[in-house]
Amino acid sequence: MSDRSMDGRPMRLLLVEDNAGDARLLQEELREIATARFDVLHVERLADAVHVLGSASVDAVLLDLSLPDGQGLANIPRLLSAAPSVPLVVLTGTDDEQLAVQAVHEGAQDYLVKGQVTGALLVRALRYAIERKRVEEGLKREEAARQTAVFREQFLGVLGHDLRNPLQAISGNAALLLRYGVLAEPQRKAVNRISISADRMARMINDLLDFTRTRLGGGYPLTRARVNLHDVLRQVVEELEVAHPMRRFELTLSGKGWGEWDADRIAQAASNLVGNAVQYSPEDTAVSVSVRDEEGGVRMEVHNWGLPIPQERLPHIFDPFVRAQDMRSAQRNGLGLGLYITHEIVRAHGGLLRVTSTPEAGTRFWLCLPRFETPDMSSR
Ligand SMILES: Nc1ncnc2c1ncn2[C@@H]1O[C@H](COP(=O)(O)OP(=O)(O)OP(=O)(O)O)[C@@H](O)[C@H]1O
Ligand SMILES: [Mg+2]
Repeated sequence: MSDRSMDGRPMRLLLVEDNAGDARLLQEELREIATARFDVLHVERLADAVHVLGSASVDAVLLDLSLPDGQGLANIPRLLSAAPSVPLVVLTGTDDEQLAVQAVHEGAQDYLVKGQVTGALLVRALRYAIERKRVEEGLKREEAARQTAVFREQFLGVLGHDLRNPLQAISGNAALLLRYGVLAEPQRKAVNRISISADRMARMINDLLDFTRTRLGGGYPLTRARVNLHDVLRQVVEELEVAHPMRRFELTLSGKGWGEWDADRIAQAASNLVGNAVQYSPEDTAVSVSVRDEEGGVRMEVHNWGLPIPQERLPHIFDPFVRAQDMRSAQRNGLGLGLYITHEIVRAHGGLLRVTSTPEAGTRFWLCLPRFETPDMSSR
């Protein structure tokens, strides 16, 4: 059996034994073993063992079951609560099969009967305990990973299906009422509000779904195709113009704008940035968007005036659930996921997203997208 800790450096053993004679005998046995070397830490009380395990790392523990401050099998869980993953071999005074089985039940890997311990037996028990503990820990990790996967599936299921379906029924029926219902003006207004709120909720659910996908593994699978960023931005700006007819948009497109990207995702990123610029700036100011070619890719900038993002928030602005700093705009807020998702989308494309924000120069988000698939640019 191979065991790293016994091949190279000496094995660190914690011996918990209050009987001086027994402890000496065991240590002599350990010294005489030719096939392995041991560093033995010897303590006489359970409390001291717990203390040692809290501060030092040991490869295995030899634990007497009758100690001044702890008797019998109860010593095992008390010790394991301090170091759940340490391999444990129990020392008993009698050759009691029943007790041995119970000890294993309590979490020990093996047991040895004092007075019958030879060097060879000791080495075998320790190696076996370490190996067995390693397997047990591996199984525990697998189980934890399996549970996470189950949880992820359930969570994504609730978001993606269970919540979206009833919401679609609400939006769909509101749309029907608006189109075919013979509604008086107050009712029409009410149904319109239902429709707008349902759409907003659907967007939030989509954002949460995106967030959960990126956080619980999976990331963004991209469907790349030839896309023109000019077209994408024309459409994004057009949609925002319809929603905000009083706002002024300045769209400057230069170069060719072509690249191989995921069109839907790029539109989502652009829409988040331009949408934010509209949302977080005064009504009477312009929102400027520009695109130009640069070496190997394209650069897009979105600029708005208004209150800047506070300096201390800038380093965290692409973290999830970071939201507006003041309460005045609280009712206009979303979940604080827009910039996080945008950043993830740009990163998945191997691009960069940056921001500068000052009272004098306003807020400017700029992103660079490599035209073709390339290794991650974020370390450049
Ligand atoms: N262009 C901008 N100008 C000023 N502040 C901004 C701008 N864009 C974002 N912010 C600030 O950063 C915060 C985070 O933006 P983000 O888009 O991630 O979330 P959100 O807009 O609050 O909600 P969501 O986008 O999820 O609906 C915003 O709440 C706002 O305070
Ligand atoms: Mg936003």
